[in-house]
Amino acid sequence: MCGIIARIGHGDATETLLSGLENLEYRGYDSAGIAVQNGSGVKVHKTSGEVADLKATLDTRPSGNIGIGHTRWSTHGPPTDENAHPHTDTAGDVAVVHNGVIDNYDELRAQLQSQGHEFHSDTDTEVIPHLIDEYRQDSASTEQAIRKAIDTLEGSYAIAALVDGEERVYAARKGSPLVLGLDDDEWFLASDVPAFLDYTDQVIYLEDGDLVVLEPDSYRITDLGGTPVERPVDTVDWDPDDAGKGEYDHYMEKEIHSQPTALANTIEGRIENGTVSFDDLEPGKFADIDTVQFVACGTSYHAAMYAGQQLRTAGLQTAVIRASEYETSAGPIDESTLVIAVTQSGETADTLDAVRTAASHDAQTLAVTNVVGSTAAREADTAIYIRAGPEVGVAATKTYSSQAVTLTLLTQRLAADVPEATPVDDSEELLETLEDFPQHVETVLETSQARLLAREFMNSTSYFFIGNGLSHSVALEGALKFKEITYEHAEGFASGELKHGPLALVTEKSPLFAVSTGDADEKTKTNAIEAQSRGAPIVAVGPATSPLVDVADAHLSVPDTHPVWAGLLANVQLQLVSYHAATLLERSIDKPRNLAKSVTVE
Ligand code: F6R
Repeated sequence: MCGIIARIGHGDATETLLSGLENLEYRGYDSAGIAVQNGSGVKVHKTSGEVADLKATLDTRPSGNIGIGHTRWSTHGPPTDENAHPHTDTAGDVAVVHNGVIDNYDELRAQLQSQGHEFHSDTDTEVIPHLIDEYRQDSASTEQAIRKAIDTLEGSYAIAALVDGEERVYAARKGSPLVLGLDDDEWFLASDVPAFLDYTDQVIYLEDGDLVVLEPDSYRITDLGGTPVERPVDTVDWDPDDAGKGEYDHYMEKEIHSQPTALANTIEGRIENGTVSFDDLEPGKFADIDTVQFVACGTSYHAAMYAGQQLRTAGLQTAVIRASEYETSAGPIDESTLVIAVTQSGETADTLDAVRTAASHDAQTLAVTNVVGSTAAREADTAIYIRAGPEVGVAATKTYSSQAVTLTLLTQRLAADVPEATPVDDSEELLETLEDFPQHVETVLETSQARLLAREFMNSTSYFFIGNGLSHSVALEGALKFKEITYEHAEGFASGELKHGPLALVTEKSPLFAVSTGDADEKTKTNAIEAQSRGAPIVAVGPATSPLVDVADAHLSVPDTHPVWAGLLANVQLQLVSYHAATLLERSIDKPRNLAKSVTVE
């Protein structure tokens, strides 16, 4: 959570910092701030609220060629002006932005206060500029003081710091992401690439323990002992247009509508002569695996469930485990266990913890992620990318679709590798029909009646989503998306579970979305009728051929195709229902309350 940015070069930094922060707001939007160094002191501007609120407070833009910025998701202290970053030392000479959590801040704060340092916020971050200031008093250089300060910190951090009178930005990371962007005449540091993608696609993914010193014409990376380290320069293949809203009102709307393109990228080059191939997964790689465990959170967990269902059908011993429960629920893990971490951002703390636990038991680990160079991609034994392009809206949409498709292909690869598996009968048809899938998504987007239905059910008290087999996880995802951006009560269930409790909540004011894949829908039909006879309006979401359509009060239709793709098309319809319901309710679509996209705390 929290996004940080820094910029140093020859022109003015402020506009770059502000636009960069806007592209990082998916990481948190409780408060925003910048500090600019312009030769006459460090100037800090910060406020509670969003970057737009920060801009509104700046009558004239502060000018300076060096700056740092922050957008916050609160952990220590409420979202007030005082708790907004950057934080400074007592004299205001050192300014720091921070993403992460400093575990020993209580004792450091007490010690610094006893040495005369004045604190003005509730944050853990504020100890950092004071520590730097304290150590500067008896260090040969600021760089040395920063090394000492970092050495004193326990916890996780990506930090960037400015010091009055110095034409430099100092930065370091441990456990929180930090990327260096290299343009011709300016350097950037940020929590994520979209912060500076308008300016450069040349990046260095920094590693834990790296300390960076940026000057207008040079940069240096060293380890904490001061020894220079070499890091490769990568080219990011994301299009800068991917980072903006384009013609759409919201990022979420844009991202839902960009799914045909994103999916075409996901699929490209991965099916050759009727078989699945991934660049980094040579055939036979998984031959010695006997158990597969998926670990993930939220929407990624639902994508993992979708794949887990298919892998079980292929006869593989499979578990899909919520990453936050992994430590207590994983069961036996050894070198014949493959642990697949599904994480769009590659930075989710719970998922990273699960990967580390798995690795400590010698399991093989594989990250399925959207972000090249992310922590999950670097820490897992192997990474494969879903290639969805940057997703800014907090509610995951295109990344879910790309994850589910990538994982479905991976399932085919695993079934081919593992001797105990029985490749699914209709594998050929599955791969053949995938070719038309992006076009089918386009058809759903063009023909969907989701807005009409969202309007019709606007005054409901609860929204239920059911499905069985493959469509169970689609129902769970539909409910998650709905509650996340509408703030209305929504629940997803395995169809058969409805009668074991939830039916008590069903009334004529609780529409029920029944998801179908066109396969094994009879159970869902029976359970939908049970809800309907208690007054609930039923919406069938799936192919016209589904028996559910005969009994439903309304139908959100998807093209007839293989059940695996039909389930994902039904999900696109549900994304649209959530989006339209939330816009009709005038909710904050891209920045739902209390949430952030990249959840880097446990
Ligand atoms: C919901 C949503 C979250 C994420 C979850 C995991 O729309 O986006 O539930 O799916 O926080 O995030 P990643 O995939 O980055 O690990």
